[in-house]
Amino acid sequence: MVKNIFFVATCILLTSCSDKYQEIVNSKDEYQIIPIPENLTIAKGRFLVNEDTKIVYDTSLVQEAEYLSDLFATVLDIDLSIGSLDTENGNILLELDPTIDHKEGYTLSVAHDAILISGKTAAGVFYGIQSLRQLLPAEIEKANNLKELTIPAVTIEDSPRYAYRGMHLDVGRHFFPVTSVKKYIDLIAMHKMNTFHWHLTEDQGWRIEIKKYPRLTEIGAFRKGTAIGLAGTRNAPYTYNDVPYGGFYTQEEIKEVIAYAAAKHITIIPEIELPGHSLAALAAYPQFGNGGGPYEVAKRWGIFKEIYAPTEETFGFLEDVLNEVMALFPSKYIHIGGDEVLKKEWEESAYAQEVIQREGLKNEHELQSYFIRRIEKFVNKNGRNIIGWDEILEGGLAPNATVMSWRGVEGGIAAAKQSHPVIMTPGTHCYFDYYQVDEEKQGEEPLTGSKRHTSVEKVYAYEPTPESLTSEEAKYILGAQGNVWTEYMPTWDVVEYRVLPRMTALSEVVWSSKKNRDWEDFQNRLQHIVKRYDVLDYNYAKHSINDK
Ligand code: ACM
Repeated sequence: MVKNIFFVATCILLTSCSDKYQEIVNSKDEYQIIPIPENLTIAKGRFLVNEDTKIVYDTSLVQEAEYLSDLFATVLDIDLSIGSLDTENGNILLELDPTIDHKEGYTLSVAHDAILISGKTAAGVFYGIQSLRQLLPAEIEKANNLKELTIPAVTIEDSPRYAYRGMHLDVGRHFFPVTSVKKYIDLIAMHKMNTFHWHLTEDQGWRIEIKKYPRLTEIGAFRKGTAIGLAGTRNAPYTYNDVPYGGFYTQEEIKEVIAYAAAKHITIIPEIELPGHSLAALAAYPQFGNGGGPYEVAKRWGIFKEIYAPTEETFGFLEDVLNEVMALFPSKYIHIGGDEVLKKEWEESAYAQEVIQREGLKNEHELQSYFIRRIEKFVNKNGRNIIGWDEILEGGLAPNATVMSWRGVEGGIAAAKQSHPVIMTPGTHCYFDYYQVDEEKQGEEPLTGSKRHTSVEKVYAYEPTPESLTSEEAKYILGAQGNVWTEYMPTWDVVEYRVLPRMTALSEVVWSSKKNRDWEDFQNRLQHIVKRYDVLDYNYAKHSINDK
């Protein structure tokens, strides 16, 4: 606080603190922030940003200061100077404030003569900057040659409702380059979400370089063709193109993406699917399957009977892979999949049946639990925790597992009742591969595999904490996530279209308090944020924006 008083007092002496802007009455239209802040008080006056503006910061906030300076540099034909608060004076101050309650909370004050952004942590300050960004016209996102701009005065106190605010991306069914992944991360950051769940392995492609097993990407990252249209769904015949398809991220690229996300306070959770959804890995290393192969990287969508064998060799392989994954990703969580595991191969495998006998297991569901528990033990030994899809409840949960509830919310409820952390991603509200419109209008949309649909309004109405939980149990609901399965998203354009603006709605579900959520008001604010999407060249479902 002492620093603040000193800062405001010195600011008055600076030329950029213009009185001319002190009495301006601002339009309410200028305060259209998504996700809606906890408290926002509109004030009189505007802050002028020009060549005299200077950003000063607590030394640990240099990254945030540079980020803010870059934001202004995009639109202004000037580089704002920045400096440490310890030695220099300025009129935009970024500081850490230990008196703020919430780890990710912030306060933002814009007055005619000063801007102050305080956070409990650097993440809070970053979110304060994101709110400041939305007080500026969308054009600031684009290179421009302005000499100055002004920001309407405001006081905001804000913090998130949920600790886990995620977006998922399946790069197995279709592969997207680093530039697209970064654009996705930018979007996550703009919406004050903090987790990117990167689904890196699938039947149709293994996408992460593993040095000890080069065939995973030499063989596993490429398929010989791809199913056309609805192949196999709604009675459509299986037809394929024979266009080779594939791609993967080198470890250097992975590091680059992790650092890019970290600078925006986003944790990346890698997902390595096991024991199912593993056909691409088995095509590369058939010795880890139940049948010896040969296997082929899948060309169609759906679920495959081929899964990992529960052998010591397979566990050794998976541990080696996870070692390299954990060396790359600093995330506390490693997602190990666990969904949609057909048990036929284990039923028919003499070896798998032997393991069931040896370990005193009842059936193949318990064998899956045994499989997951062994992997969990290894991951825990390395100081990390596992997340698994809700099938990991079947046959008994691994002791420290977090559950991602996707087949509805029942799995999440069961896990919370067993005192396990839960992330809600129910298909009904959080699957952004579904159509956004009802069946009559689906013919006008990019094709997707199912007729199910989830409108923006439905996402907005989602309540991640089930009513049936006691307040003690409800504490295990960490938050929610939008899932983006890409079978029917062959190009990046379609990914953006499916995600926006449903992700915009979800960001408010996971950040804002329930009492502040208002569908009508959200629709108004949505019309403002899409201008930003336009300038930033994001594709989105325009029919979901209610023009007024
Ligand atoms: C899933 O959608 N199979 C998790």
